[in-house]
Amino acid sequence: MSKREEIIVSKEEISRQKQFCQNIKLILENKKRPYYAFVETYGCAQNVNDGEKLQGMLLDMGYLLTEDKENADVIIYNTCAVRENAELKVFGNIGALKNLKRKNPDLIIGVCGCMIQQEHIVKKMKRSFPFVNLIFGTHALYRFPEILHNAFLGEKRVIDTEESDGRIAEEVPVYRDGSVCAGVSVMYGCNNFCTYCIVPYVRGRERSREVSNIIEEVKALSKSGVKEVTLLGQNVNSYGKDIEGGLDFADLLKEVAKVEGIERIRFMTSHPKDLSDKLIDTIATTPKVCKQLHLPIQCGSDNVLKSMNRKYTREEYLAKIKKVKEKIPGITLTTDIIVGFPTETNEDFEYTIDVLKEVRYDVIFSFIYSKRVGTPAAVMDDVITTEEKKRNFDRMLDVQNTISAEINKEYEGKVYPVLVEGVSKNNPKYLTGRTDGGKLVHFKGDESLKGQIINIKITTAHTWSLYGDMCE
Ligand code: 5AD
Ligand code: SF4
Repeated sequence: MSKREEIIVSKEEISRQKQFCQNIKLILENKKRPYYAFVETYGCAQNVNDGEKLQGMLLDMGYLLTEDKENADVIIYNTCAVRENAELKVFGNIGALKNLKRKNPDLIIGVCGCMIQQEHIVKKMKRSFPFVNLIFGTHALYRFPEILHNAFLGEKRVIDTEESDGRIAEEVPVYRDGSVCAGVSVMYGCNNFCTYCIVPYVRGRERSREVSNIIEEVKALSKSGVKEVTLLGQNVNSYGKDIEGGLDFADLLKEVAKVEGIERIRFMTSHPKDLSDKLIDTIATTPKVCKQLHLPIQCGSDNVLKSMNRKYTREEYLAKIKKVKEKIPGITLTTDIIVGFPTETNEDFEYTIDVLKEVRYDVIFSFIYSKRVGTPAAVMDDVITTEEKKRNFDRMLDVQNTISAEINKEYEGKVYPVLVEGVSKNNPKYLTGRTDGGKLVHFKGDESLKGQIINIKITTAHTWSLYGDMCE
């Protein structure tokens, strides 16, 4: 078996899992009431996609999905390990299930996802939460039917925490919520080992899906009414490097653009070191590819970038941004920033502020550094205090909020094509959609417009969203 064949889960194995779904379905059909499943997902878009797979498998097993934990027969937490606060939230939420379990001893509680790929977390789960029935990591996701089936067979606790670099499982059912936008994972894992990041340890090595499987999925989504797809990967610019003679990411974008009915294509996330001229040109020249780029810089100081193992300098990053702006005028730019990396001094931090002022991102996603057990940065000593880190963080938000508000203000009075996503979650009087660049727009209109691209004249700009009116 070639290395590539080894990482692909065999068709027989996938059929075996489908059989477990059928077995559970038979068991549930013999019960006298509907059975409900609750899935809560934390973290990034790829994890959300994993959550949709869990829901897809549960539907195949005959469960109904519920958003009410109190009513559920199965509760699954699909966890994230990127920062400590996400982990603490999960621990808090699991602890709170103890009472539900007391009331309903048949309740099945499962915890899966990135947290479970860490040995110290599994130890803690075993020790502190004896009432959790299923514990399985990201690599075991496709085996969820078998894991749940084992619980039905009477196993009090099913633990599946395989140590591997991860595999690719096709044809796992995915639940889509009827939204006109959908995420499609095109690759899994990461090879970059930034020194602060737990992802390479919990998601394994980079592995790309075959183009044909991706295109099939996008075609099926289009058939079901999806208009916009976001291609997902920890580092999509590495797409295809592990498939001999395969397409690269720019080529993949062009293939996805050929799918009829798909109007817009976005993607996440790009590592700056791998952002090629070819990709920039493809964004510029492929109409369906949205003029939006998320390019995490993490920090503006070369010293810190070096200790983060990011493999680019501030100058190199800024040169790429310059090229992007020249080739794609008006592009929406976003980034990720970590404040308070152990080696970051107050002087280093000033370089980050300089970058924000120079690039003028539309939006930044910013985080205070969180120590992750087992990563190289976890053993580095802090050079500034927690108070200083918080002060820097707040100042950065102030600087960025002003920039975001200024950029949005320029939208006022102009007309933009907006893909209507549906009724606004916060205010049912409004519809919500996005511009090509990904700006959130609220406006009044009929729900039947969902899925259409219509022209909206922006009337009022806020820092995080725009309000407008439909054009006659
Ligand atoms: N602490 C804080 N933020 C982190 N990120 C990744 N690891 C950490 C960490 N240990 C951020 C990075 C990354 C985003 C998804 O999460 O900015 O781009
Ligand atoms: Fe983490 Fe760096 Fe990989 Fe992104 S590129 S997932 S930050 S290791």
